[in-house]
Amino acid sequence: MTLPVTIDRMKTFYIETFGCQMNAHDSEKVVGTLLQQGYERVESPEQAQLVLYNTCSIRDKAEQKVFSRLQQFKRGAGKDKLFGVLGCVAQQEGERIFDRAPHVNLVAGSASYTKLPEMLVQLETGNRRVTGLDLDTGETFDTPFTRRDNPHRAYITIIEGCDKACAYCVVPFTRGPERSRTSESVMREAKSLTELGYTEIQLLGQNVNSYRDPSPHAWDFAKLLANAGAIPGIRRVRFTTSHPRDFVKSIVDAIDENPALCNHVHLPVQSGSTSVLSRMQRLYSRDEYMRRIEWMKNARRDIAITTDIIVGFPGETEADFHQTMQLAEEIEYDSMFIFKYSKRPNTSALQLEDQIPEDEKTRRLMLLQERQRAIQMRRNGRYVGKTEEVHVEGYNVATGQWIGRTSQNKTLNFSDAALPAPREAETLGGKYTNVLVTRSGPNSLAGERAREVYVQ
Ligand code: 5AD
Ligand code: SF4
Repeated sequence: MTLPVTIDRMKTFYIETFGCQMNAHDSEKVVGTLLQQGYERVESPEQAQLVLYNTCSIRDKAEQKVFSRLQQFKRGAGKDKLFGVLGCVAQQEGERIFDRAPHVNLVAGSASYTKLPEMLVQLETGNRRVTGLDLDTGETFDTPFTRRDNPHRAYITIIEGCDKACAYCVVPFTRGPERSRTSESVMREAKSLTELGYTEIQLLGQNVNSYRDPSPHAWDFAKLLANAGAIPGIRRVRFTTSHPRDFVKSIVDAIDENPALCNHVHLPVQSGSTSVLSRMQRLYSRDEYMRRIEWMKNARRDIAITTDIIVGFPGETEADFHQTMQLAEEIEYDSMFIFKYSKRPNTSALQLEDQIPEDEKTRRLMLLQERQRAIQMRRNGRYVGKTEEVHVEGYNVATGQWIGRTSQNKTLNFSDAALPAPREAETLGGKYTNVLVTRSGPNSLAGERAREVYVQ
């Protein structure tokens, strides 16, 4: 028998977040909701009466993490400690989580977060098996109570869910169908962020390119982007993630026309082989992808392009992999996330034969990583001698350098003989300044602050 926990004793919570930026931002909204409900946030699971894990199930490893966390901190469970599993693993595993980890008391997927206040009341009144697993929703999780972690860059959700059916991907099963927010609601949030002092925003969605304003304005993504970039006080607008099938030329035109739109596009290709792309059900060929790259390469602004690649998808031959290597060389990505294919529940790729052995996946991953490292060395070398504007994100006490980020999303660490003290650095966080690039590495740039006043 479990004892009912009194409301007061339950009012502290701890949350740990795994996975993508969508999850990070969901947690910011969940935290805001809990604070609004009278909960207090604590910094360790030991101190908390409600321990929440906002989970990711994109690859098997990510999923395993939450179960090991649940084992690690289960002491005190039941009597005076409650555990909640949120996010993608919650949605994917549903009530099976209660069997695997019987001390869990709340299982809720992201499509149910609008019902969090009700679920909390259920927990508070002694229900020890609370679930929120309905995926059949037209709602988005919008709240004015969001508690943002990053003081310089604010995430804004514009679309939730995903209507694609990539053969390897669990997301349509964990985040449900696409739902766009109205343009008014997005613009209102963006404007309110400028009042809080934010100058940089990042528009979020699993596939931002398929954004469709449900209001009579009927804005598409390029229109939303252009309007967000025109908000007084907004100096930088980023967006992620783009699906190549829905990535249209008007997005590149919008970037060309408005310097507030960052010249960086993350356009996951997954494979350089049309036959692999077709088995992945990606809905574009290598040539169609290349056309989108050409729009960007022919743009007036120098647009940084980054991507995701999966190696070892079932049936990927040496020749297919070679095409991915060639594609990387041809495009010269600014950065690349490479993943070994991982089998996911419910996905159609589970039916495919010809699995690639683990050590072969590792070999391909390492070869591609090595090639990409050389490409990044080359690309970043082009910036030496140039002056770049950075948004100052902080100060690294260990290196005595400021940390800045360029519009292209490159880290540019810089020193400034006139302002060496970390205390001053804190006050400079969030400012913009020009930096002369003097050195480059595969993953970052380094330089000296150009002699002029800080702006904004
Ligand atoms: N195995 C490996 N990588 C995957 N990704 C998505 N699903 C899988 C999977 N089953 C990668 C894709 C995606 C990124 C977020 O994660 O490259 O773009
Ligand atoms: Fe992980 Fe995908 Fe869910 Fe993000 S949407 S948390 S990457 S499974």
